[in-house]
Amino acid sequence: MRRELIVAIDGPSGAGKSTLSKLLARALNYTNIDTGAMYRCIALAASRRDIDPADEESLGRLGRSVRIEFLRSNGGERVLLDGEDVSAAIRTPEISLLTSRVSACLAVREAMVELQRRMGEKGGVVLEGRDIGTVVFPGAEAKFFLVASAKERGRRRYEELCAKGHDVDLAQTVSEVEARDAADSAREHAPLVQAPDAVAIDSTVMTIDEVLAVMLEVVRKRRSRAGFSENDGGERP
Ligand code: C5P
Repeated sequence: MRRELIVAIDGPSGAGKSTLSKLLARALNYTNIDTGAMYRCIALAASRRDIDPADEESLGRLGRSVRIEFLRSNGGERVLLDGEDVSAAIRTPEISLLTSRVSACLAVREAMVELQRRMGEKGGVVLEGRDIGTVVFPGAEAKFFLVASAKERGRRRYEELCAKGHDVDLAQTVSEVEARDAADSAREHAPLVQAPDAVAIDSTVMTIDEVLAVMLEVVRKRRSRAGFSENDGGERP
């Protein structure tokens, strides 16, 4: 039986992945899976348990034992860690930096990738992260690599944090975003890298609507290549 597509959106922090993946999933009537939130949950759990980010064995055990769920409602998407709503707690600048360290651990990655494959294998999903098109679903029918200049990405992250009431400094936010990307790109396991068959989009001077239109066009073509017609399931009228 034909299944709906798997869509992968990878790229560095602040390139617009979260916003676009939510919008794209909504437009296609697909499920959105924020894989960064999953790594953030592990970092939060590790920090609460005082686990040293260099202690790979304990991190691996943690990665295999916690329960991560996405709760979707009209009020948006919430992330639950062992039943607790941690949507806000996982987004602090401290947890962002810790996540980059924790996500470099192979055992953590293996546990998360297994979960992500289980969540997405039936198709009809948009997954956003760093290694979706290269490692998690190398066979994904539509892959995007979303980038933007470091300055612009830092500015977006700064505004996001300010809007949530965090007391942050612009220059420091830009340098934290750069540090996180450098670590994500240089790590040994599943580094941030563009899949050869991904469509690269630079969102620096594009509006969200413009990027979304490009993505929808690519997905429409891939769906019709996979044998779906415009009126089949998936897309909302
Ligand atoms: O996307 P987000 O900024 O929430 O990701 C937080 C961190 O999680 C990234 O900086 C990266 O270290 C890690 N991550 C990852 N692989 C993914 C998604 C996120 O290593 N697929």
